[in-house]
Amino acid sequence: MLQIREVFHRFGGLIALNNVSLEINQGELVGLMGPNGAGKTTLFNIITGFISPVSGSVYLEGEEITHLSPHVITQKGLVRTFQDVRVFEHLTVIENVEVAIPEGRSIGLLGGIFPTLKTKFIKEFVKEKAMEYIRMVGLSSVAEKSPDSLTFGQQRLLGIARAIALRPKMLLLDEPSAGLNQDETIILSEVIRKIHLKGVTIFIIEHDIGMLLDLTQRIIVLDRGKKIMEGTPEKIRGEKSVIEAYFGKKRKCLV
Ligand SMILES: Nc1ncnc2c1ncn2[C@@H]1O[C@H](COP(=O)(O)OP(=O)(O)OP(=O)(O)O)[C@@H](O)[C@H]1O
Ligand SMILES: [Mg+2]
Repeated sequence: MLQIREVFHRFGGLIALNNVSLEINQGELVGLMGPNGAGKTTLFNIITGFISPVSGSVYLEGEEITHLSPHVITQKGLVRTFQDVRVFEHLTVIENVEVAIPEGRSIGLLGGIFPTLKTKFIKEFVKEKAMEYIRMVGLSSVAEKSPDSLTFGQQRLLGIARAIALRPKMLLLDEPSAGLNQDETIILSEVIRKIHLKGVTIFIIEHDIGMLLDLTQRIIVLDRGKKIMEGTPEKIRGEKSVIEAYFGKKRKCLV
């Protein structure tokens, strides 16, 4: 599904990614972990076209996407969420999801002002679909509310609903559990599992190692721009160097 070959990127004198290569297979749920500043978000920015790497290439289903724009990459089915929450505050929760649904865009401004039977039908369809995604992330009870009134955890789930409304083949989640409490993290894990079961390939950056060990099939570890390890959760759990990179030398086990 996704192939990253020898990606190198620097910000001035700082090497953020040092010839990183990796592959994600269709249907996989893969985690990306590593300390602050390891280059995780930079890698996501390169995959999704927000940054052009100095060298190296990215392929989606065999097609090179390295220097394509974020918009074009999204249209190809590769969708991301951001480390910070990004929602439209002047729209309700359900409207936030409706605007992400591709069919809704065909209505246009005129269709909104002079609704025909067809535009009414599309609007109904879009609303039903939006509600389906809202139910999937467990936000039905707040569908008509303003995003302002949601908890931080609910706003993150709304971000995920917006992402799946774009019907991705592959979803990239950048630290979805950041700022969530334990209960919210459990709900989030369930939502991610559900999306994965629907057939979406998932690549997830997380600092919550317990969540990654529990959720993923494979974990990739970055440290100072280099891929230092890759393997099943069981393998990562046992690796001393990973633990040291993550927690410093004192900590002996991950969980
Ligand atoms: N736009 C930028 N300009 C300059 N330096 C940057 C830029 N973006 C990232 N960096 C630097 O590149 C390195 C990698 O940053 P990146 O955000 O990819 O790390 P990360 O692994 O996502 O960290 P975190 O866990 O804190 O989110 C860091 O040293 C960061 O300061
Ligand atoms: Mg980051």
